[in-house]
Amino acid sequence: MSLRSAEKLVSMSSECCLGDVMEKKTNIEYLFEPRSVAVIGASQNKAKIGYRIVENIVSSGYKGRVYPINPKGGEILGCAVYPTLSKVKGEVDLAVIAIPARFVFDSLKGCAEKGVKHLVIITSGFSEVGNTTEERKIVQFARAYGMRVLGPNIFGIYSSAASLDATFGPGGILPGHIAIVTQSGALGIAMIGKTAAESLGLSTLVSVGNKSDIDESDLLEYLANDDGTRVILLYIEGVNQGDRLVESLKRVTRLKHVVVIKSGRSKRGAMAVASHTGSLAGADEIFDSLMHQCGVLRAESVQEAFNWARFLAEAPLLKGKDAVIITNGGGIGVLATDACEKYGVALYDNPRTLKEAFAQVMPDFGSAKNPIDLTGQATSEDYARALEAALENDDIHAVMALYCETALFDTVEFARLLQREYRHYQGSKPIVFSLFGGEKIEAVIRKLRKQGIPVFSDVYDAVSCLGALYRSWRNLHEPQEVAEELPIDVEGVESILDRARSEERGFLLANEAQQVAEILGLDTPRSILARNLDEAVQAAEQIGYPVVIKVVSKDIIHKSDAGGVAIDLEDESELIDAYQAVMRSCRAYKPDAIIRGVEVVEMIRPGVETIIGARQDPSFGPIIMFGLGGIYVEVMKDVSFRAAPISNREAHDMIASIRSYPLLLGVRGEKRKDIDAIAEVGIKLGNLVERCRDITDIEINPLVVYDHGEGVKAVDIRILFRNL
Ligand code: COA
Repeated sequence: MSLRSAEKLVSMSSECCLGDVMEKKTNIEYLFEPRSVAVIGASQNKAKIGYRIVENIVSSGYKGRVYPINPKGGEILGCAVYPTLSKVKGEVDLAVIAIPARFVFDSLKGCAEKGVKHLVIITSGFSEVGNTTEERKIVQFARAYGMRVLGPNIFGIYSSAASLDATFGPGGILPGHIAIVTQSGALGIAMIGKTAAESLGLSTLVSVGNKSDIDESDLLEYLANDDGTRVILLYIEGVNQGDRLVESLKRVTRLKHVVVIKSGRSKRGAMAVASHTGSLAGADEIFDSLMHQCGVLRAESVQEAFNWARFLAEAPLLKGKDAVIITNGGGIGVLATDACEKYGVALYDNPRTLKEAFAQVMPDFGSAKNPIDLTGQATSEDYARALEAALENDDIHAVMALYCETALFDTVEFARLLQREYRHYQGSKPIVFSLFGGEKIEAVIRKLRKQGIPVFSDVYDAVSCLGALYRSWRNLHEPQEVAEELPIDVEGVESILDRARSEERGFLLANEAQQVAEILGLDTPRSILARNLDEAVQAAEQIGYPVVIKVVSKDIIHKSDAGGVAIDLEDESELIDAYQAVMRSCRAYKPDAIIRGVEVVEMIRPGVETIIGARQDPSFGPIIMFGLGGIYVEVMKDVSFRAAPISNREAHDMIASIRSYPLLLGVRGEKRKDIDAIAEVGIKLGNLVERCRDITDIEINPLVVYDHGEGVKAVDIRILFRNL
C-alpha cells in the first residue's frame, strides 16, 4: 500500500478498511527481541528523555544495531546519529519515539517506509489528556503498514532476552525471570530502582500506557512462551477488553505464575445499572472474582506482589500439599499456623510419620507435633538437624523455618547454616524462613535476601509467599476449563425481545420473561395471566391454592413498591380481597398506568433464597453473579462473579466462593441444598448472555433452593435488553 493511500485510509477511518489491514500483524517477538532499534528524538542534551533512552540502550549491553535519529546529526555515546530514518541503511525492527506529540504522526511515515515492525511511543499528550483522535489516527496508520504500537505515554521497554533497556528509567535493571507489565508509568519507573534494590531479576519490564494497540493480552501471548519468564506480574489500573484478558489469563496461568496488582477499587462503574447484578457489580469485586476464576494471584500491595514474584520465580513446584513448620519459639509457631490457615497452606499432621522423622533430632524437651517446636533451649545444631530431617523427608513437601533470636545461637554461624541448607535443598522443595529479632537478625535478613533467599522478619509475609505457591500450583494442575455450551433457542429469545421492542420496551413483562425461562428449561412456579377477577379466580383453581398474585403492567416495574403483589392467598375470598387491594394500590401508585391484569402464580414452598444473575459488563463482557438473598446480598454484599460462559466446575467454584456458602452445605442438622441445580442455572444464564448480547441484564431473585436432589425454583425473573 502506498503512503498516500494509507493516509487516505486514516482519514476515512472506516471500520471495514481497518478490518482489511488488521491482517498484517507483525510478530510480537520483534518487540522483545529486535535486531535493531532506532530512537527518534535522540538528543545530545543529557537532560532529555531522548538522550537517556540511548544511554540505557548502550549501557544495558544491547547487541543489536542502534540508530539515534535527530535532524542535527552528530554522535551520541559513540553511536552515529542519522538525520532521518530513511538514511539508515539496514533494517529497523523497533522505533522508540520521543518527540513532542504534534510531530509523532509525521514521523510514522518514515517508519512505515523503513518497514519498522514495532513503535514504542514514549510521548505523552494523547488519549490520556483527551487527544483520542490523534491516537486513533496513529494506530490506524501504523496498522495499515503492519506496525504495532506500544503506548503512547509510556517509559519504554526492557527485555533481558535482547539485553535491551529502551526506557528512560534509572538503569541498572537486573536480568532474571520476572516479567513486569505495568499500566502506571511513574510506578513502573520507580519499580526499576525498587526491583534492583530488592535484588529482583527481570526478564522484561513493559509499560503499556494508553494501550492504544498492544495491551496486556498481546504481551501475555509472548510471555507465556518465553523460556526466560517464570512469573508474570501485572500492574493494572483499568481494563479495556476484559473478555480478551480473561481468555489470555486462563491460558497463561496453566503455564506460568501470574500475579496481579490492581489499583482503583472504586465502585463508580456500578452506579448506573438497574438490577442487583449491576449495582452489586462494583468494578473491583468483579475484577477480584474474575482473576480468581483465571487462576491469577491478586496481591494487596506492590511489596506483597514483589515478595510473591521473587519467591515464585525461584521455588520449585510442590510435589504434594504437606508443609511442616520448624520453630524454636512456640508463639511464632502458632502465628505461622494461623497464617497457614489464612493463606491455604496445608500442615502435615500425621503424628506417626512426624515422630519417626523428628524423634532422632529433637531435644527431649521439644515437641514433634507440627509445628515442630524445638523450644528456646535448642542450639543451632538442634535447629540444623531438625531442618535437615524435614528437608530430607519425602512425605514433607514444603518447609517453613522460623527463628526467634536467643543467646544460644551464633548469628553469623546461623546465617551460614540457613544459606547452606537453602542452597542444598532449594531445587527439591519450597522453603521459606522467618527470623525475628534485633539488629543482628535484621542484618542477617538483609544479607540473605540480597542473595535471593526467601527470608522475612514477619511470619505472615513468609507464609503468604508459600500460600501464593500453593494456589498457583493447584491452578497449574487443574485442567483447562471448557465452558459448557448448551443448545439454546436463541432465535426464540430474540423474537420475544423483538415483540417487546415493538412496544418500545427495554424490559420483558413477567409472562415474557416466563417464556424465556421455558426456553432455558428453568423450573418456575406455575403461572397464568388473568385479565380480570373472574379469570383470576379460575386460574387460582387451576393452579391450586395457596397462590400469589402480581400486577401485570409495563408501567410498573417495581411491583412490590407499588403494592402490586399479594402472597399466600389460601382461598377464593382471600384472592378476591387481594385482587381488589392490588388494583387500588397500583392505581394510587401510578394513576396513568395501563394495567393488563394480574399474574396468578403457584405459592411455592419455602427454601433457601438465593439470587443469580448475568449481565453485560462494560469491561469484561458477559458475566454471572451469585449470592444468597435477603441481608446476605443487600447488607453483606456477599456475592461472587465469573466471566461467562462457565464450566460446571467454575459454576460450583462461583457458588462456593461466597462467604455464606456453609448455609448451602446445611447447618444445624439441615440437609445439604441442591448446589448442582444452582450450578445448572448459572451455566444456562451464562450461555444466554454470551449468545444474546442484546440482553444486558437477567436476574432471578429469588432462586429458591431446596434440599439436594429436589431442585430449585426461579421465582422472579427480570430481563433487561438493548432496545435498538
Ligand atoms: N525526528 C527526529 N528528531 C526530532 C524530530 C523528528 N521528527 N522532531 C524533533 N526532534 C528532536 C528535537 O530537535 C530534540 O533534539 P535536540 O535536543 O537535539 O534539540 C529531540 O528530538 C526531542 O525533541 P524536543 O522538542 O526537545 O522534545 P522534548 O525532549 O522536550 O520532549 C517528549 C519530548 C517525548 C519527552 C515529551 O514530548 C513528552 O511527551 N514527555 C512526557 C513523556 C512521558 O512522561 N511519558 C510517559 C512516561 S510513563
